[in-house]
Amino acid sequence: MLSIEQRLKEIKVVPVIAINDENKAASLAKVLVENGLPCAEVTFRTPAAAESIRLMREAYPDMLIGAGTILNNQQVDEAIAAGVDFIVSPGLNPTTVQYCQEKNIAIIPGVNNPSLVEQAMAMGLKTLKFFPAEPSGGIPMLKALSAVYPVSFMPTGGVSPANVADYLALESVVACGGTWMVPNNLINNADWKGLAALVKAVNN
Ligand code: 3PG
Repeated sequence: MLSIEQRLKEIKVVPVIAINDENKAASLAKVLVENGLPCAEVTFRTPAAAESIRLMREAYPDMLIGAGTILNNQQVDEAIAAGVDFIVSPGLNPTTVQYCQEKNIAIIPGVNNPSLVEQAMAMGLKTLKFFPAEPSGGIPMLKALSAVYPVSFMPTGGVSPANVADYLALESVVACGGTWMVPNNLINNADWKGLAALVKAVNN
């Protein structure tokens, strides 16, 4: 079985989703799966997140699904119960990391400087979110961190069609995350054709 890191490497771009209506979750997952991005990081920034994950999982058992913006242990529990494959947090919260390790669920916490990378390494983590990527120095910062530390990164935050290829060209980058191919207005309006075009463009 492929590890989460291997699966992220194959997918390359992770759609970061804030969904307001769980009734749109299965249709959104369909658009992602059928247009070459069988993956989602569903952020816990909306109350619909956990139920949306459950419905996506039910519709697409093999889809790679993460829970994003996880800030506490209760959200970890909700995400696991909904059926996620991995947890993502914006920062490095030792309590959340330890809890995920106890629960045996992969966690990709956010870091954006050497001290945080070292703390994450001390917790036994090897794949980290570089967040917020662009405001934190973008590719030059990531290159500097990658030259020193034997870890992999998932840059997110300001990644766009204009820079995604440059991030993915770095050996230390397993995948990039972003919201540009899943904008809220298209999800809210159930504009599945519009979304399909943006999702398809990611792989072209
Ligand atoms: C995240 O939660 O990872 C970010 O909000 C994604 O950032 P972006 O909107 O700049 O892609």
